[in-house]
Amino acid sequence: MAHTVTLLPGDGIGPEVVEATLHVLDATGVEIDWDWQEKVGAAAMGTYGTPLPDHILDSIREHGVALKGPITTPVGKGFRSVNVALRQRLDLYANVRPCSSLPGIETPFDDVDLIIFRENTEGLYAGIENYDPRLEIADSIARITRKGSERIIRFCFEYAQREGRELVTLAHKANILKRSSGMFLRIGEEIAGDFPDVAFNDRIIDNMCMQLVMYPEQYDCIVTTNLFGDILSDLAAGLVGGLGVVAGANIGDDYAVFEAVHGSAPDIAGQGKANPTALIRTAEMMLRHLDEKEAADAVRDGLNTSYKQAEHLTPDVGGEASTMDFAQYVADNVATALARS
Ligand code: NAI
Ligand code: MG
Repeated sequence: MAHTVTLLPGDGIGPEVVEATLHVLDATGVEIDWDWQEKVGAAAMGTYGTPLPDHILDSIREHGVALKGPITTPVGKGFRSVNVALRQRLDLYANVRPCSSLPGIETPFDDVDLIIFRENTEGLYAGIENYDPRLEIADSIARITRKGSERIIRFCFEYAQREGRELVTLAHKANILKRSSGMFLRIGEEIAGDFPDVAFNDRIIDNMCMQLVMYPEQYDCIVTTNLFGDILSDLAAGLVGGLGVVAGANIGDDYAVFEAVHGSAPDIAGQGKANPTALIRTAEMMLRHLDEKEAADAVRDGLNTSYKQAEHLTPDVGGEASTMDFAQYVADNVATALARS
């Protein structure tokens, strides 16, 4: 039976990496009817007067699953992030960002295999901001709740247990932010008691950054609050070849929106230079969510073969191929992987 999935190509490099990913998905033979929603973010403002029109949320609520390219957010002014709004309005509380080494990319480590679980709906992204223009005093409040903390930490432990992962590390700043980060840590310690098969430790966030760049092999699943998770996941991407190769998923109890970690990359948009690997790996996560295991394995194997052969790679990982040339090469390897299985 065909799946129906909402598709948001986004802007910047979004449409390019989406086109490349659809090409690879075609090679899997999985039937997907796409509900295209092109006008979102700045492109929606003119037509609808809002960057996130209700019909887009309705489409995702109806189909339950979306694949999404990046959407630009104006810096320091203008509309609030559509990406953050989507996660909050659909209550997609778990942002899951696997980060593992690929063969053929030169990095200081070749055995990184981490998953970052970022709380996705509250913390410093809660949108509770005040500005007093007379005194020039600004507040951004990091709201942490027991409910929000429990569900992301439990989600991380349940994932670790199900997938045979050995360690959960909770990253925090409870020495300084005694109330908000302190409560998050306390709840983590409580929940860890329910999962005797999974080891648990915690790290203060600044030390966590140093540990990750020196000893990434010592870490496995990392659970943390919204801003720390945002920063840590770009750092972790840097360990395995950059933002062009790292996938992501926003998961809630009712809906899931699959999007790569990277943004709209205005510096390379429209030039055919973007690496679609991040969104292809994201699509692999989506296929697993849709119970298309064989197709997901073929995408994984097709990508691995492509990186092992290391021809036709994009410029960010040392090659000269265009976005679509690389996608064609991966699609061929996916077809080969499927024929073999
Ligand atoms: P960015 O992730 O767009 O780019 C950072 C650097 O990584 C740039 O040098 C870029 O060229 C490179 N890069 C990113 N993705 C790549 C890919 N697939 N292949 C090759 N190189 C890649 O982050 P930046 O510049 O901070 O943000 C740009 C815009 O994207 C902002 O408006 C930001 O708000 C938005 N953004 C949107 C996200 C989303 O839609 N979920 C996530 C992050 C940022
Ligand atoms: Mg980010």
